[in-house]
Amino acid sequence: MNAYIGTPTSRVDGRAKVTGAAKYAGEFPADGLLHGFVVEATIPCGRIARLDTSAALQVKGVLDVLTHANRPPLADKDEAWRDEVAPEGSPFRPLYDDTVKFNGQPIALVVAEDWETAKFAATLVRVEYEQRGFATDLEGERGKAAEMDKPHKPRGDAAATLAQARVRHEAEYVIPTEHHNPMELYATTAIWDSNGKLTIYDKTQGVQNVHKFLCGVFDKKPDDIRVASPYVGGAFGSGLRPQYQVVLATLGALALKRSVRVVLTRQQMYGLGYRPMTIERVGLGAKSDGTLDAVTHEAIAVTSRYEDFARNDTGWAEQLYSSPNSRFSHKLVHLDVSTPCDMRAPGAASGVCALECAMDELSVALKLDPIELRLKCYSDRDQSENLPYTSKQLRECYARGADAFGWSRRNPAPRSMRDGKELVGWGMATGVWEALQMPVAVRIVLTSNGHAEVSCAASDIGTGTYTIVAQVAADALGLPIENISVRLADSTLPQAPVEGGSWMAASSAHAVLAAAEEVRKELLRLAGKIHGSPLAGAELADTVLTDGSIARASDNRRAVSIADAMRHGGVERIEKEKLNQFGEDKKHARNTHSAVFAEVKVDELLGVIRVTRVVSAIAAGRILNTKTGRSQIMGGVVWGIGMALHEETVMDHRFGRIMNANIAEYHIPVNADVHDIDVIFVDEPDAHINALGIKGLGEIGIVGVPAAIANAVYHATGKRIRRFPITLDKVLD
Ligand code: MOS
Repeated sequence: MNAYIGTPTSRVDGRAKVTGAAKYAGEFPADGLLHGFVVEATIPCGRIARLDTSAALQVKGVLDVLTHANRPPLADKDEAWRDEVAPEGSPFRPLYDDTVKFNGQPIALVVAEDWETAKFAATLVRVEYEQRGFATDLEGERGKAAEMDKPHKPRGDAAATLAQARVRHEAEYVIPTEHHNPMELYATTAIWDSNGKLTIYDKTQGVQNVHKFLCGVFDKKPDDIRVASPYVGGAFGSGLRPQYQVVLATLGALALKRSVRVVLTRQQMYGLGYRPMTIERVGLGAKSDGTLDAVTHEAIAVTSRYEDFARNDTGWAEQLYSSPNSRFSHKLVHLDVSTPCDMRAPGAASGVCALECAMDELSVALKLDPIELRLKCYSDRDQSENLPYTSKQLRECYARGADAFGWSRRNPAPRSMRDGKELVGWGMATGVWEALQMPVAVRIVLTSNGHAEVSCAASDIGTGTYTIVAQVAADALGLPIENISVRLADSTLPQAPVEGGSWMAASSAHAVLAAAEEVRKELLRLAGKIHGSPLAGAELADTVLTDGSIARASDNRRAVSIADAMRHGGVERIEKEKLNQFGEDKKHARNTHSAVFAEVKVDELLGVIRVTRVVSAIAAGRILNTKTGRSQIMGGVVWGIGMALHEETVMDHRFGRIMNANIAEYHIPVNADVHDIDVIFVDEPDAHINALGIKGLGEIGIVGVPAAIANAVYHATGKRIRRFPITLDKVLD
C-alpha cells in the first residue's frame, strides 16, 4: 500500500512539460482561429462618452470590434456573474455597459485574423470619457475604513491590559499591493464547433467554476460549453475566479461564430488579480517573564467599490499564541480599483508578516531570544476556538530549524555580526496556514490488462496534482505507477472545486482512495465467484489490492489476479466513480505550521540586501511526495524573498494608474537573488485529520518568510523597517 505514497516520486507530467508536448490555454490550435486584443480604459472612474471604432474596422484583417454597444447578450443579474469563490457584491462584467470602474478595465475587443493586426488596430480605437472624481490611495482614505468582517470574539479586555502591560509593543506594518505574475499569461482559446457548441481552453484553477459561470453569463445549457485546462503555467490564486479574458474570448466566438483566442499581455495582467494593500496594526503586551497578556491586530485593506474582498489577516494572531486578552478587527476601504484576489496564502502572508515582525520587536524589548518568546506563549490549543489541533509539531519545527540553521551561534546584539563589508543578520518567524479539505469525486476505469485511468475535474496548477493522484491510485490499486494514467481539469470529468487554499492534495487523494475501494469491492465480488476461490467469503475490510491482484489482507498468498477475476466475471473493464466527503470534526483545529530562519548580508555602504540562507522547517502532516512538496516550499520561500525585498505595485494616485505594470519595473526575485534554501519536513503523525494523515503544502511555504527576512535585516542593521518591500533606500535612510 505504500510503494509510492511518501516517496520523492518525479512528476508524471514532467516529460510532457519539458518537451513542450504539454499544451497551455493559449496554444490549442483551431481552424480559422481569430485573435482578440483588449482595449483598456485609461481613467479609473466615469463613463465612456464616445467610442469610435471606425478606423480600427478599416484595417485589413480586422473582423469586428466588440464593445458594450454591439456585443451579444450578457446576463443582467448579479447571480449569474457570481462564481463559486466570488466575494459579496456585484461582480465586474466586461463590455457590459459604458461604466468605467477601474483603470485598465477592458472596454473593447478587437478581433482580427492575426494577433499583430488586432494589436495594431486596437491603437486606432478612439475613446472619450466623462471622468468622475475618484480615489485610489488606501493611506489617504483610511479614515473611511469600515468594519466588514463579522467582528471576531474578543477575549478579556485587551485595550486596558495592553495599556498597562509591563512590556508593550505597538506598531503599524504596511504591505503594498502586489500583482500576480505567473509565467503563463492569462489566456483563453474558445473553439467554435460547427454545431454551435464551444470548447474553451482557459487558464484557470477551476474548470467547473468557469463552466458554470459561462453557462450563467451566456445563458447556455451545460452541454453547450466544455471547459478544459490540462496544464497551467502557475496561478497561485490568480485563476480561482474566472478572469475577464474568458468572457471576451467566448463573446468573440459567439459574435463571429468562429474560434477566438484572447491572450493578455503582461502589462494587461495588471488590470486583474492582486494581493490587496494592507495596513496591519499589531499590539502585544507581555509580562516581564515574556508570557503574553494582550494581543491586538487590526487590518485595514483595500477593495473595489463593487465587491467586498476580505481575507483572514488577523485570525492567525487570534489563534496562534496563548494570551488571555485579545481583540481583532478587519476593515475595508472601497476605492476606484479592480477587486483584489487571492494570492498564495491570502491573508496569512500579510497578517502573519506583521504579527511575526511585532513578535520580534517584542523579543528585543524583553531582551529574550525570539524562539524563547514563542515557546513562552506556545499554545497546544487553537486560542480562538479553544480546540486542540489534530496535530501540531511547531515545537519540533523551531528545534529542527534552529539546529539546521545554527541559531545557537547567534549574537543577539544588532550589527554584531559581519562578513567583510557586509553586515550579517539572522532572523526567524513562525508560519501558519489552514489544513482544509473539500468534497471531490474521482472515476477509476480499470482494464483487465492491469491499467487504470483515474479522472477528476481538479486542476494541477503546477503543484503536482497529476503526480500525487497517480501515486495514491498506484498504491490503492496495487499497480505500478506506469500503469496509471491521470486525466484532470476538464469540466466533463467528476466534480471538483477550484484548486486553491492548499486543499487539493488531501481532497483528491482521499477521493482516489474512495473510488479505489469501490473497484476493490467489485473485484472481490468477481473473485469470490470463482470456483474454489481463495477469497470466497472474505470481508471487504480483509482485502487489499497488491501486485496486480486482490488478496486477503491477513494472508496475501491467498490472492486472485485482477486479470483472472475480470476474465471469470466476463468483464473487460471496471468503472467506478465516487464522491468523497470528509466527516465533520468540530472537536479539532486543523493547521499546518512552520519555523522559518533567514540569513541576510547587507552591504553597509550601499544598503544592498542579499538573502544568503533560508531554512524552512515545515509541519504539515504526512508528506505525500517529498520531491514535489519540497518544490512547493522552495517556491514559497522565493516568493517570500520577493515580498520582503522586491514586490510592490506603484500607483500614481493623481491618475489612479499603475506606473510599473511590467516585470522590468515590478521587481520579482531572479536566480541571482536566490541562494541556499533548506526545506525540512518534521514528522507530524496525524490520526484525526483524515485516513492518510495529510494536510497540504501550497500556501505554508511563503508564510513567515517575509517576517524572518525583515527580522534578519533588523538584526544586521539595527534598523526596523515596517513598510514593505525593504528596499535599499529605506536601509540607508
Ligand atoms: Mo492558492 S491562493 O490558489 O496559492
